[in-house]
Amino acid sequence: MARLRVGVLISGRGSNLQALIDAAADPRYPAEIVHVISNNAAAAGLARAERAGIAHSALPHPSRAAFAAAADAALRQSGAELVALAGFMRILDDSFVAAWRDRLINIHPSLLPAFPGLHAQRQALGAGVKIAGCTVHFVRSAVDSGPIIAQAAVPVLVDDDVESLARRILAAEHRLYPMAVRLYAEGRLRISDDRVAILGAPAAAGVLFNPSPAC
Ligand code: GAR
Repeated sequence: MARLRVGVLISGRGSNLQALIDAAADPRYPAEIVHVISNNAAAAGLARAERAGIAHSALPHPSRAAFAAAADAALRQSGAELVALAGFMRILDDSFVAAWRDRLINIHPSLLPAFPGLHAQRQALGAGVKIAGCTVHFVRSAVDSGPIIAQAAVPVLVDDDVESLARRILAAEHRLYPMAVRLYAEGRLRISDDRVAILGAPAAAGVLFNPSPAC
């Protein structure tokens, strides 16, 4: 069966892009990455696309509207059916968000709607939460907002700093994003009233306590 064609927008390191590339290396995975676009020509993620033999472009960002028009044209050219933001750190023009509505997803390193915006992990530490995590969601025009597809939770440990917490969340991101893209590609997501139902998903089990209930 034809695999879903996915375009990925990045700004930097591209470790979530790599997780998607690795997932798609399995021919049974129902999606393939057809184009990687960065607003930053120095993004390490572009080299990951190059190594994987995936078409990639660095597009200048003279303005939101100009970037959006160029990215839209490149994505259509490559036949993208879904656009995944993976550490894309610019606000997308409303025209782009509207054109790709319900075909545009993002990953964010917090349990949204808590801690949108920059430095989500630092915000979580500052708030003293005991459980943090990451979210994959459909994109709407407000920053880091939109119907939530999937979330993963991790504990915040007493000696965490921003780096150690970000590492723990990132490891969860690398599992969550390929899962969410797979669910989309399998046609199992239904949005209604800004909530996402997932067809045929077994209920998650278990409770994450922090501190451990053995305390
Ligand atoms: C990831 O933690 C991602 O969730 C975050 O940027 C990082 C990119 O890392 N995105 C946001 O904060 C979006 N608001 P990566 O380039 O290694 O995938």
